[in-house]
Amino acid sequence: MKVILFGATGMVGQGVLRECLLDPEVERVLAVGRKATGQQHAKLRELVHKDFTDFSSVEEELTGYDACFFCLGVSSAGMKEEDYHRVTYDFTLAAAKTLVKRNPGMTFIYVSGTGTDSTEQGRSMWARVKGKTENALMKLPFKASFMFRPGIIQPMDGIKSQTKAYRVGYAVMAPLTPVLKALFPKLLTNTRQVGRAMLQAARHGAPKRLLENPDINSLAGGTS
Ligand SMILES: NC(=O)c1ccc[n+]([C@@H]2O[C@H](COP(=O)([O-])OP(=O)(O)OC[C@H]3O[C@@H](n4cnc5c(N)ncnc54)[C@H](OP(=O)(O)O)[C@@H]3O)[C@@H](O)[C@H]2O)c1
Repeated sequence: MKVILFGATGMVGQGVLRECLLDPEVERVLAVGRKATGQQHAKLRELVHKDFTDFSSVEEELTGYDACFFCLGVSSAGMKEEDYHRVTYDFTLAAAKTLVKRNPGMTFIYVSGTGTDSTEQGRSMWARVKGKTENALMKLPFKASFMFRPGIIQPMDGIKSQTKAYRVGYAVMAPLTPVLKALFPKLLTNTRQVGRAMLQAARHGAPKRLLENPDINSLAGGTS
């Protein structure tokens, strides 16, 4: 399987990249970002791109892939709706429209989050914009598309979030993980499980298109 990965420098993307590189069935990963990951691996290629609203200049490089794992995204904290919409909706749809044109046999997987608003009408700005993004992606003629809605993602394998507040939060949370798992089993996942669930969905599909946190963990096969 040949995979394109967006957001490979982020917390979720680093976890997904790790699982892709470990998986013997993945023969190539193209990481697309505004900067390189800096990682060296025989299976890994990097594409540094500046304008995430227009991929027409790199269409050729984005051709010939089986799956796209779209882990690029930002926290909406302190952002105006217009700016959050640009990164969340505009970037994602610009990439997806190019990819579906060049790879109609592709499976596209998008990371949104627990609480995403499919009605696009609710009060929470981030949830509306993520819901609009999911709805638009599901209309594109990919072979398959799946929307991943993880809850709290525990970083594994030394992976760190780029967001300072999250780094502090995860560091505080780490010793409490067994308690949190017991109290909120449906809300917790980790970077390994997200990556493994994506690979599973890309290989074999999934029972539904909108995958909530328990669905992600179940698809990952109970790994931790
Ligand atoms: N972390 C969680 O617990 C959690 C839970 C549920 C859902 N999610 C969702 O998962 C997605 C990824 O989250 P994360 O925690 O991995 O975030 P992160 O650590 O902040 O990583 C964000 C990724 O997106 C890229 N990115 C951000 N703004 C960009 C821009 N303007 N242009 C190009 N690339 C940009 C970053 O690239 P650079 O390295 O160049 O900045 C990085 O690769 C988000 O949509 C988030 O809502 C996360």
